Amino acid sequence: MIRLEDISVDKSLKEPLYQQIVNKIKDLIQSGQIEVEDKLPPIRSLAKHLGVNNVTVVTAYQSLADEEITYKIRGSGSYIAPKSDELLAQISEFDNAENQVYKMKDNQMILSQETINFATATPKSNLFPVTDFKKAINFVLDRDLGEAFGYQEAKGYQSLRESIASYLRHQNIQTRLENLQIISGAQQGLDIVSKAVLNYNDVVLVEAPTYSGAIASFRSRGVKIVQIPMQVDGVNMTKLEEIIKRYKPKMMYTMINCQNPTGFSYTHKKKELLLKLASEHHMYVLEDDYVSELIYSKQKSLSLKSLDVHDRVIYIKSFSKILMPGLRLGFMIVPDTLNQTVLNAKQATDISTSGLIQKAFDVYLRNGQWEKQLSNMKKIYQRKFDKMVEALNAYLPRSVHYYVPKGGILFWLELPKGKDSRDFFEKVKHKEVAFVPGDMFYYTDRKSNAIRLSIAAVAEEDIELGVKKLSQALVDYLNQEAVERLPIL
Ligand SMILES: Cc1ncc(COP(=O)(O)O)c(C=O)c1O
Repeated sequence: MIRLEDISVDKSLKEPLYQQIVNKIKDLIQSGQIEVEDKLPPIRSLAKHLGVNNVTVVTAYQSLADEEITYKIRGSGSYIAPKSDELLAQISEFDNAENQVYKMKDNQMILSQETINFATATPKSNLFPVTDFKKAINFVLDRDLGEAFGYQEAKGYQSLRESIASYLRHQNIQTRLENLQIISGAQQGLDIVSKAVLNYNDVVLVEAPTYSGAIASFRSRGVKIVQIPMQVDGVNMTKLEEIIKRYKPKMMYTMINCQNPTGFSYTHKKKELLLKLASEHHMYVLEDDYVSELIYSKQKSLSLKSLDVHDRVIYIKSFSKILMPGLRLGFMIVPDTLNQTVLNAKQATDISTSGLIQKAFDVYLRNGQWEKQLSNMKKIYQRKFDKMVEALNAYLPRSVHYYVPKGGILFWLELPKGKDSRDFFEKVKHKEVAFVPGDMFYYTDRKSNAIRLSIAAVAEEDIELGVKKLSQALVDYLNQEAVERLPIL
């Protein structure tokens, strides 16, 4: 039975009241707070509780029944339908366009000097290896003169592709040079794959929550997006299989290790199952590897690509989180079947990635400076990571749950069920601590009780204070006792 107090409306909003009720009930289903066969409250009780007309509730219930989210039993009431969560996973084509633009715009946060920044997911510029990279650029300029500024092959500078292929062998990935495509950042990779693979009305599966930049690229192709709830050990494979059979998707987008935003990682077994499903159902898997170098546990975590015997995985690698996001450099490993179309899409997009940057990065790789930077960044991130775990453990109110990922830069905190992290975000906007509310990472216009914290840009020495401030704000917001273990502020 759904509790009346779980449903609320805001009469100051422009959104019709019946629609607010519909959305609230959908949210409760998606967040698992109400389940299949739960009964909706009686119309009169809910109308009285919300201070609205009976007709408003009748309209909301009818709309849910029309969408087959609920079913009615004459003389008894309305119940949550068995397939409701799957139906909620199915999103129609264009209804969220405006909302998505709003979310992307909102992504650009304006932070003051005093703000402790848990929002940004790229490193601070003082960590960039400027001196080493400057040397690499100067070396290239002295060596190649004007040649350094010529167009490159659309596939990418041959010598760099050789260096990358050799680097990949250490990651258990064997690839031929012709399958390696240099790109101007992972975001371009997502866009090129969208152009090369996706057509109007194709279905793309995404984890929910997920990286909004990927959704923006997929959407630009007019595809249907189906969200699958992300779990601590990867999406539910039975559900995935059902969804694949039902929607016949062209592609699934995934972050196998330390997913953005949750930090969750797939188990080895789930990786294998995912590949099996992809091969059986002729589905491509787009693996976005933005941070796999930063796994702190001893246990090795293989990429999906390294296990991809059927050549279904398109692998995209970004250097933004470890090197410098402004380089706009990354690479893809492209299955044979897509090699030419991806190359055409790259050529049509920007002809080639900057030759100077590719050549300088090649020198940087060959001189072993990338390995040095990696090991340096890993140490820095690991210290911040440990500090973060310590602080979250010490200061967070008990009702806020967090997950310790096996690596990466992101932490996913869940407020008690039913809370809206956007509401919390609005309340603490001016409290000198920045984070990203969870609704940013969903394709649908739904509320989220989660927030994402990143350790990428925050200084190590600010982490404890930042978590204290955030915890105090949470305590105030949730109207709760602080943890007794340590004083807050
Ligand atoms: C998961 C994920 N993929 C891709 C990108 C884009 O990376 P790049 O800077 O290489 O374009 C980001 C950037 O935040 C990201 O988080």
